Amino acid sequence: MITPSHSSAAMFERRELMPTINPDKAGSSLKHPAAKAPRIFADTATWSEIEPLYKGGIINGVTTNPTLLKKAGAKSWENAKSIMKDLCQKLAPNPVSLELTELTEDKMVAQAEELRALGENSIIKVPIGGYTAADPKADPFTGLKVVRKLWERGIKTNVTLIFNVNQAFWAANAGATYVSPFLGRLADYAYKNDKPERKAGNSLYFVEDHKNSKGDQMLHNTEYVASGGSVKDAGARLIFEIATVFANYRITTEILAASFRNQVQLTECLLAGADILTVPANVLSTVADHPLSNEGMKAFIEDSKAFT
Ligand code: E4P
Repeated sequence: MITPSHSSAAMFERRELMPTINPDKAGSSLKHPAAKAPRIFADTATWSEIEPLYKGGIINGVTTNPTLLKKAGAKSWENAKSIMKDLCQKLAPNPVSLELTELTEDKMVAQAEELRALGENSIIKVPIGGYTAADPKADPFTGLKVVRKLWERGIKTNVTLIFNVNQAFWAANAGATYVSPFLGRLADYAYKNDKPERKAGNSLYFVEDHKNSKGDQMLHNTEYVASGGSVKDAGARLIFEIATVFANYRITTEILAASFRNQVQLTECLLAGADILTVPANVLSTVADHPLSNEGMKAFIEDSKAFT
């Protein structure tokens, strides 16, 4: 697990610039004790999963993507739009991220306007890269150009599929409201492809190492070279590094940590300096429990019978 020895003064200072969660309702004298803490969003498009978490005050935002919409039952674009609109209405004024599916700049901007019309609280999710994977002739900067155009129009964006600090920085520089580093997928990739017999490498940064290269090094040697150390917490290290860079330059783009697989990753992100955690319902459902909590609770219930 990542154990940052300290959070820099710059990090504390940046937190002061960030939006307040759980703002007091007008006329309320309640002061929330964690007003500057990371917000928690639900990473799902399925209302039956969101409803109990939202109504219970566990989450105050939602992130969706095409895969999550498909899981929620969407079978056409119209279908998907109606699910997204419904989520925007139910969650308003809290943010709901809606992802673009078009792949060219003009069409993406037009689709962003279409999604924006679904709700004032919609946040347009723009993939940072991958455009040339879909079409080798595509402009690799398509996503960044779209983010810039939407920023100029005052439309909030969540730049998704972030896997390194450079992508996060360039997204912020283009005007992103949020960046979504996928720490779970990074950890999955590292677990699957790590070849410990290889020298610490750098495929996630695409830095070539000809001396040590054995042909497939670019694909298989996954040490997260910017920070060094174990690949197992590569995702959390990524969050820490983005938080450090954003703090150093007083960047207020929010770090929306995504793609969680387990509770350890949640803790790591809190230590690393994430601004928002977007968590799938199956991981959220585990956060209140612990084997020792269960054991302690059983004993308290048993002993309380003495008073009845
Ligand atoms: C974030 O906004 C994404 O929707 C999500 O976290 C992706 O997670 P996955 O890696 O489980 O698909």
